[in-house]
Formats: sequence, structure tokens, C-alpha cells
Amino acid sequence: MSKIVRNASELNFDIRSAPQMPLARRILMVRPTYFHVDNPINPHMRKADGTIHVLDKAKAMAEWETLRATYRSLGLEVFEAEAISGLPDMVFCANQTLPFVSRTGEFRAVLSNMANDIRHKEVLGIKAALEHEGYGTVELPARNSSTLFEGMGDALWLPGYRVLLGGYGHRTHRSIYEKVAEMTDATVLAFELANPRFYHLDTCLSILDARSALACRDAFTREGWELVQKVFPNLIEVPLAEADSPVFACNAHCPDGKNVLMQLGAKETVRRLQVSGFHPIELSTEEFIKSGGSVFCMKLQFF
Ligand code: ARG
Repeated sequence: MSKIVRNASELNFDIRSAPQMPLARRILMVRPTYFHVDNPINPHMRKADGTIHVLDKAKAMAEWETLRATYRSLGLEVFEAEAISGLPDMVFCANQTLPFVSRTGEFRAVLSNMANDIRHKEVLGIKAALEHEGYGTVELPARNSSTLFEGMGDALWLPGYRVLLGGYGHRTHRSIYEKVAEMTDATVLAFELANPRFYHLDTCLSILDARSALACRDAFTREGWELVQKVFPNLIEVPLAEADSPVFACNAHCPDGKNVLMQLGAKETVRRLQVSGFHPIELSTEEFIKSGGSVFCMKLQFF
């Protein structure tokens, strides 16, 4: 029973009575051994004067190690896929696949059709790591401009349900969600991303639990924002200044419905999270934000 919902009036059923899916609890990461920012493929990779950010590699490694240690301190199991030389963005391992559980209980992952040629080469590395953990993989139609799909950069599970929130317009093509819905046997709520600074759905929406999310209104169309409001009774709005780089507050990750790992410095967002009963854990991902990614992009949460 897969279907696509594009606005609030099409959402004419109770989303929390949708068929269920287990919760994803394992974490996959890729060490930033070959990470760099010399090929700007999103607006955050340049400074205000147009030049490309300069990376502090030692600091990037230390930030990554701290993030991994933080997941472990929360009792989450962290797995690693091997970094591949020549693939500078592979550390952002949310993008190459979309893991799911089939109706009959098997672990599966949709393989992405990445928009960027070099980044597309990362897919095989993440595929191998998931296969090692017992996953089967499914392929989308051959990669071309209308079959692009960037995995969990744009497609986010509503925790516990066969419901996917899917962004499109920059890295993912609108029409691919018909196929993704069919492959995963899920309902897809599709969102056009209106602002190029929010080029993946995970840059402007972070789902905290089945009723709560962080989101930045400026990234959505009016229709999309109404749908976000309808899906999440507890919607925590993130001010534009904290959602945009260099803070990237919507790229936070809540791995367990309680703790929220996020770039430090989002003062108002932290306060709103606390008021809502969440536990923000602020850490530095500054070096990765120079590439347009923070916590959410730096891991894949799989089942
Ligand atoms: N430089 C990477 C890119 O532009 C950053 C990816 C960040 N990932 C994310 N899910 N937003 O593709």
C-alpha cells in the first residue's frame, strides 16, 4: 500500500495508525581519512568572499572521534565502513543508501543514485558494509537526471512507521519517490526544497521521535510547511540564523527519542529542545560544516 502525499489536505488519515517498522538503533560511520573540501558542490563549501574553506584535518579527525565516542557513551553500537582514497565526502555516510525493513522482516537498503559523479562512487563502499551486517540491497532505475536519489540525506523515516519523509529539488528528483515508495512499501510524504542553502531534507528537518521534529520554515514551500505542521504535533521551529551554516542546527541527530547530538552554538534551539523535554548534547563539527554537513550526515542509522 505505497502512496505519495504532497500536501496537508492529501494527508487524510492518521499517520500514527500506519503500518509499523522497527526502530533503527545501529550506527554506521566512515572515518574522515580522505576528507577534504576542494570541490565545492554546495553553497556552504565557500566562504562569504567566494573562496573555498580551508580544512584543519587534525581538528576534523578529533571532532569525528568525539562524535563516535558520544554515540558509544549513549550505549549505541557503532560500526565502521572503510574510507576509500579519492572519495573526499564519504564521511557523510547518510547519503549513499536508505536502509529499511521489508514487510517480511528482512533488512534491506535502497542504493542511492548520487547527483555528483565522484560521490556516486561512495555507494559501493556503504553497500559492502551493510551487506556485511546482513543487508540485501535494491537498485533504483539506472542513474540519470530524473532518477537521482541521495538516501538518508533526503529520505527520513518517521520512527516506528512505514512512513518516509522525502525531500526533492536539489539532489533528489521529485519523481523517484514513486519507485522508493514501491520498493520500501511505505507511504512517502514528499517535500519540495525551496532554498538552495537547504539542499538536503536533513539540513532543514530533524525528526526527534514520531511526534516531534526540529525544522526551519524558510527551507519549505508554504504547502510543505503545512504538511510538516500536520505531521508533527510537537514541532520545534529553528530560527534561520541557527539553521543556516555555520551552526546547522537542523542537522542534529536524535538516535533514541531523547538525546539530541548537535553542533554547538544554537542557543535558542537548545532552549526550545530543553523546554520540550529533550536532552541536547552540543559538540563541535565545525570542520564538517565547512563541507555542508554536521552530525546527521556523518552517520547512517540502520536497523
Ligand atoms: N559535501 C557534501 C555534499 O555536498 C556534504 C554532504 C552532507 N550530507 C548531508 N546529508 N546533508 O554532498
